[in-house]
Formats: sequence, C-alpha cells, structure tokens
Amino acid sequence: MNQYVSRFFVLFAAVMFLAAPVASYGATEGSFSYHNFKKPTRCAVCHRTIYREWKQSMMSRSFTHDWDDVEYFKLALPHAEKFAKVAGVKAGCVACHSPIAFLSGDIPPKPPKAGTRANEGVSCEVCHHITGSTEKEPYNFSFIIKPGNTMNGPRRGVRSPAHKVVYSKFLRSARFCATCHDEKDPYGVWVKETYREWKAGPYAKEGVTCQQCHMYRSEGKAASMGKARKNVAHHIFHGSHFASMLRGAVNLALYPKTERLSKGARLKFKAVLFNGKVGHYIPSGSTEERMLWLEVWAIDSSGHKYAIPVQRKGFRGEKYTIANSHAMAYQAIGEIMGIKNFKGLKRDGDLPNGARIFRKPFFDPKGRMTVCQWYTKNNSLVDYRIGPRQTKIEHYVWRIPRRVKGRVRIVATLYYSQVPSSVGKFLHLSRHDYEPILVNRASFVVHVR
Ligand code: HEC
Ligand code: HEC
Ligand code: HEC
Ligand code: HEC
Ligand code: HEC
Repeated sequence: MNQYVSRFFVLFAAVMFLAAPVASYGATEGSFSYHNFKKPTRCAVCHRTIYREWKQSMMSRSFTHDWDDVEYFKLALPHAEKFAKVAGVKAGCVACHSPIAFLSGDIPPKPPKAGTRANEGVSCEVCHHITGSTEKEPYNFSFIIKPGNTMNGPRRGVRSPAHKVVYSKFLRSARFCATCHDEKDPYGVWVKETYREWKAGPYAKEGVTCQQCHMYRSEGKAASMGKARKNVAHHIFHGSHFASMLRGAVNLALYPKTERLSKGARLKFKAVLFNGKVGHYIPSGSTEERMLWLEVWAIDSSGHKYAIPVQRKGFRGEKYTIANSHAMAYQAIGEIMGIKNFKGLKRDGDLPNGARIFRKPFFDPKGRMTVCQWYTKNNSLVDYRIGPRQTKIEHYVWRIPRRVKGRVRIVATLYYSQVPSSVGKFLHLSRHDYEPILVNRASFVVHVR
C-alpha cells in the first residue's frame, strides 16, 4: 500500500468515525450493533422514576412477555421458515418488538430465557434516538434512527451532564407512535391501525395526541438532579393490559320499557354503550385477537340464571359478532404447528351464547377466522367495534318463562379479553393473558306478577 493510499485510509476512517453517529438511516436490519444502544439501567441512575414506569409498562416486556414469546417462537417464526409468502415476518416482528435486535441483525434473536439484549424490548434509546419517519403517514417500523449521545426530548433548552439534548417536534406527535402502532401484513392488509383510527376521529381534530392520554403529565422531576417541573411526562403507557385503564372506558346504561310485567310476558329493553374515553376504537391494536362483549343475564328470586341473547340487526357479517359455542376457528394454528386433522378451536372461547361481541374478525387466505395477523388476507367483512365518541345500541326481548315470578334482576356486564380463552388454553398461556376483564356493569329490577 503506498503512502497516499494509506493516508487516504486514515482520513477516510476518521471521517467515517465522525460521520457514523450523525448519519441517519431508516430502520434497516443489521445497520447497527447492540453496543450502539445503551442499556436502560444506565439511564436509571438519573431518570429513576421514568425507568421504573417504563419497567412496569408493556414497552419493556414487548419481547419477553409470555404471549409475545409464544406467538413469535411457536407460530410466526416456524411459519416464516416454511412459507415464503410470510418469510419477511421473521425479521419484521422483531423490528417493532425488539428494535435493537433487528438493527443489530440478531435475527432470529434467542428466546427470552437466553437473557440476551433482545430482551430490552422497546428501550429508552430506541425512542429517544428516533428522529423521524420515511413515511408521511408512518407504519411498519418506518422510523429513522440516529444512535449516539444526543437524546431527542420534548422541551427546548434542557441541559444534561450525561448527554446532549435536542428538541424534537416529531417525538411529541402521534406520527411518532404510528411508526410501530400501524402495520400492514405481507398480504397488504392493515392489521393494526390505531393511529389511522385516531387520525380519522374527533381527538386528532381537537389536537389530543396519543401522548396526552398514554403519557399524561404531572409535577415532578424528569431527572434526579434536574429541575422540579410542573408537567413531567409519565412513561406508564397503560393500555388494555391494565385493568384500571379498561374499567369504565365505555359507559353502559340499560333502558327497560316497563318494570312491571305479568307472567309469560315479553320484557323489552335496550343497552346503550358509549365510548367517551378511548381515543381510537375499542378494541384497537392487536384487533385480530381482542374481544369486548356484553353478556346479559336475568336472575330470578330463587337465584336461577337465564342468558338473554341480543336481538339480531341483520348487518353483513353479523354472525361473527354474536357468541356461538358451536363456531370453530383458528385452524391456521394447527396448520402451522403441523397437527394432523386439527378441527380448530372455539371461535368465541367461553362466552355465553347470544352475547354481543364488539370485534373486527380477521380471515386467513383460506377464509377461516384467524388470530395470526401476518397470515391475514381480509379483515373488511365487518367492523363492529366502538369508535371514539361513538354509541352502539343493542336491543333485547326476553320472553319470561312461566315459572318465573316476583323480583327479577337483569344484569348486563361488559367484558374485555386479550386473547380468546380457547387459544390461550391451547397454547398454555398464563391466565392473565385471556381472562375476562371487567369494563362495566349495569342492572335493573322488574316485578313479575
Ligand atoms: C448523569 C445523569 C443522567 C444520565 C445517566 C442520563 N440522563 Fe438524561 N438527563 C439528565 C438530566 C439532568 C436531564 C435534564 C432534565 C431536566 O432538565 O428536567 C436529562 C434530560 C434527558 C432528556 C430530555 C428531556 C427533555 O425535557 O427534553 C432525555 C430524552 C433523556 N435525558 C434521556 C436519557 C436516556 C435515554 C438516558 C440513558 C441512555 C439518559 N438520559 C441518561 C441526566 C441524565
Ligand atoms: C415508546 C417510546 C419511549 C420510550 C421507550 C421511552 N420514552 Fe422517554 N419519552 C417519550 C416521549 C414521546 C416523550 C415526550 C412526551 C411528551 O412530551 O408528550 C418522552 C419524554 C422523556 C423525558 C422528558 C420528560 C419531561 O417531561 O421532561 C425523559 C427524561 C425521558 N423521556 C427519558 C426516558 C428514559 C430514561 C426511558 C427509559 C427508561 C424512556 N424515556 C423511554 C418516548 C419514550
Ligand atoms: C419502536 C416501536 C414503538 C413505538 C415508537 C411506540 N410503541 Fe407503543 N408499543 C410497541 C410494542 C411492540 C408494544 C407491544 C407490547 C406487547 O408486546 O404487548 C407497545 C405497546 C404499547 C401500549 C400498551 C398496550 C396494551 O395493550 O397495554 C401502549 C398504550 C402504547 N404502546 C402506546 C404508545 C404511544 C402512546 C407511543 C408514542 C408516544 C408508542 N406506543 C410508541 C412499540 C412501540
Ligand atoms: C383520549 C385518550 C386517548 C388517546 C388520544 C389515545 N388513546 Fe390509546 N387508549 C386509551 C384508553 C382509555 C385505552 C384503554 C381501552 C382500550 O384498550 O381500548 C387505550 C388503549 C390503547 C392501546 C391498547 C389497545 C388494545 O385494545 O389492546 C393501544 C396500543 C393504544 N391505546 C395506543 C394509542 C396510540 C398509538 C394513540 C395515538 C395514535 C392513542 N392510543 C391515543 C385512550 C387514548
Ligand atoms: C409495526 C410494528 C409491529 C410489527 C411488525 C409486529 N408487531 Fe406485534 N405488536 C405491535 C404493537 C404496537 C402491539 C401492541 C398493540 C396492542 O397492545 O393492542 C403489538 C402486540 C402484539 C401482541 C399482543 C401482545 C399482548 O400482550 O396481547 C403479540 C402476541 C404480538 N404483537 C406478536 C407479534 C408477532 C408474532 C409479529 C410478527 C408476525 C408482530 N407482533 C409484528 C407492533 C408490531
């Protein structure tokens, strides 16, 4: 190597060294390595409260949480390895659930029990190094990320002894969240669209961002040696995994026509459900597996219980919104796991027949209902979820059995579940992942003479 060339190389290396931390990239597999991202425990030294909140949130568990672990390693990854059409999800799932593993080219990462850095999930430096998106309306991990010692923050003029801080308008926008919260699958179907739902609804028009509900502000300190401030952003990211967030999220009221009836008469009433608190549809996010449902029971004076089914309205695809213990679905799970003659699992888990289900069913390329969002060919048959500030009215007619008399209590309960219980039990998930969570309850009493 002559002198000119070697000098050029030294210069080139120096330029690259200086340029590397400031060059920006879209999220590309293997464009960085783990050591470009500091561990959240490093930030905890000064940002103790924020660290503790993040640690409790789903963000820190996005790779290790039971159901994420099972869905990726037992279903998506084996499917990607044998079926070319969905091969992209091998890396794609990881790009949102463990961005630093994806950016480091650690694909597939080792399972959570191996204890690698993939377990850090959506870590501090992932979000605070994101500077923008390659898309106008972001989706599918289209974030631009610049590792280094500069943190993007929500305030102007902030100083830290440990790192540089720059103000980022993008960090404060809903588009920032959209980079991971909206997703298109290999069939070109929108399988997650919380941002798009929000954008089309009233909150976007009023300027109420995702951050205002999920990262609310209160007095405190953002860093232990920082200033006391009136409005520090919390990193709690509560969503459907927190019972307190769901409780009362939808208002529920019952309106009976009469409260005095004779034996064998028909009791008519309606249930009115109003979504006045959720900034997007409920359920949202992992819509393929979420259910919100209303079950209505009559309980007579001797304690007998009678399920009261909802009245049909006759819209397209309605059968998927009324619980039916004979309906089977999720056959793709057996197909992926190589189980012969797999008949599928109960579509609606353990719901009582006739309960109204607020959901948006997803269908695989063979037309079967599925919880595998990456293997979804169509989800536009019916969307019977409750939109932001939307009201749904359900009608009930109950022919009172002749043996029932005296005081009868009608109880309507609104529940939510993350995953159908049939799927949860089949895959041995922890009960927390599929148990019904109480959202609301209403009741009234009728007298039967
Ligand atoms: C040695 C202490 C220290 C460490 C370690 C530290 N920070 Fe900071 N950081 C601060 C201080 C102090 C501030 C200014 C806080 C204020 O003025 O309210 C700050 C500010 C910030 C801000 C900007 C806040 C704003 O209002 O714009 C972000 C974002 C941030 N830090 C992220 C991190 C991350 C991520 C890590 C870990 C990789 C980290 N910090 C490590 C002390 C630290
Ligand atoms: C999912 C993305 C995300 C993750 C993960 C995340 N942050 Fe933030 N952080 C934000 C956003 C967005 C804001 C600004 C919120 C706002 O202003 O509405 C913020 C604000 C901050 C602030 C300034 C708070 C204030 O009001 O002055 C600090 C400091 C900070 N983050 C540190 C951290 C640390 C430390 C971690 C890890 C323990 C972390 N962040 C993890 C997105 C994230
Ligand atoms: C780098 C990708 C990424 C970004 C950016 C991001 N998220 Fe998330 N978020 C995730 C992943 C992955 C999960 C799922 C965790 C799990 O596995 O359940 C999640 C979970 C959540 C949850 C919990 C949902 C539940 O069911 O409990 C909320 C709430 C949330 N994010 C809100 C936000 C908000 C608000 C922003 C913007 C300030 C944001 N996220 C930005 C990736 C991201
Ligand atoms: C007006 C307040 C409000 C706004 C604005 C808002 N959310 Fe929510 N979000 C909620 C409430 C309340 C819940 C709990 C009920 C539920 O799970 O649907 C929730 C739930 C969620 C969930 C869990 C959904 C599920 O069913 O698993 C995610 C993810 C989420 N929000 C992300 C976002 C993102 C991303 C934005 C911005 C595009 C946003 N939210 C805007 C109030 C809000
Ligand atoms: C574009 C980003 C993105 C991609 C790609 C992605 N996810 Fe997610 N995933 C999320 C977000 C955000 C949530 C949280 C939504 C919610 O809570 O409703 C989530 C939720 C989940 C959940 C539900 C967790 C729970 O506790 O209920 C599972 C399981 C999951 N993802 C697995 C996968 C698998 C497997 C793949 C690949 C086939 C994948 N994800 C691809 C962003 C993504």
